[in-house]
Amino acid sequence: MPARIIGTGSALPALLVSNRELEKIVDTTDEWIRSRTGIESRHIAVEETTTSMAIEAAKKALQDAKVSPEEIDLIIVGTISPDHYFPSTACEIQSALGAANATAFDISAACAGFLFGLGIVDAYMKAGTVRTALVVGAETLSKMMDWNDRSTCVLFGDGAGAAVVRSDESGIMSMVQGSDGARGNALTCEGRRVNNPYKKNDTSLDYTKMNGQEVYKFAVKTVPKSIEEALLKANVKADDVKYFLLHQANLRIIEAVAKRLGQSIEKFPTNLQECGNISAGSVPVLLDHVNREGMLQKGDTIVLAGFGAGLTWGATVLIW
Ligand code: ACO
Repeated sequence: MPARIIGTGSALPALLVSNRELEKIVDTTDEWIRSRTGIESRHIAVEETTTSMAIEAAKKALQDAKVSPEEIDLIIVGTISPDHYFPSTACEIQSALGAANATAFDISAACAGFLFGLGIVDAYMKAGTVRTALVVGAETLSKMMDWNDRSTCVLFGDGAGAAVVRSDESGIMSMVQGSDGARGNALTCEGRRVNNPYKKNDTSLDYTKMNGQEVYKFAVKTVPKSIEEALLKANVKADDVKYFLLHQANLRIIEAVAKRLGQSIEKFPTNLQECGNISAGSVPVLLDHVNREGMLQKGDTIVLAGFGAGLTWGATVLIW
């Protein structure tokens, strides 16, 4: 049976940093950031961590779904900014929740991480091996930014979103996923280099680097295409979709996708104005905001789409 989202939760750091605040740190302006991206502020972790926000979001999602931790069979976390290489963030969530019956692991698919997680859960559910799962997207991207590099540090924010998913008669209708590693250089962040008694390396780490225009071109071409494919597979018309919840990278990308799909921008809720780009956290945080504002009714058809470093992309059509 397909996977159905039955509860959502999210967590954001307490500190909200406005564009004006960033003017004090890097050579930028509120006007530049707003006009190029739509972003007005972002939440930045001070005491919070990827794990602490993931746990908070997961607890809220369980409450919303009225599901107990013991019922969870599978926990998947999409993250590119875990607190540790190991144990995984998913195992840390399992421990904090007391979800003793779950299998738990992380996946690395950047801004498509939540979508890839949903796709894995849907496949497990169709195989009949999992009944209830938790999918989380959680990031502390602020620790991976060069805060002297105005071309990247203004774009991103921290946070986590979670969804409880259960196998049901209806739910995910179609899932489209893809990757293009050959274009991976467009957006990178270095990990530890080989460094041991046999090979000595400089252990200082590079921060996030991005070719913004490459990423922009990729997004405006691939995202509408993947959504159109997902709609076709689900046999659903774009006009019949209530909301398109897209990865919150940039308002111009979202406007371009809406135009290409021939849909009103009102059908594309956004929170990037407040949150910036939370990578894997972006789609589930937005989904939780939309859910908690009461904008979704049972039976609504919605589209979720994520895209980002890798390059990676994923789109799904689902029944709420
Ligand atoms: N403040 C002021 N000026 C800036 C800033 C800043 N924060 N950042 C760059 N500039 C300057 C550049 O130095 C450049 O100056 P120059 O002309 O004197 O050399 C000028 O602005 C134009 O720079 P571009 O990079 O060409 O700006 P562009 O119009 O392409 O906008 C942007 C940059 C917003 C990043 C755009 O390329 C974009 O939206 N790309 C999509 C990338 C994205 O959203 N990435 C998010 C992560 S990936 C993902 O989540 C999918």
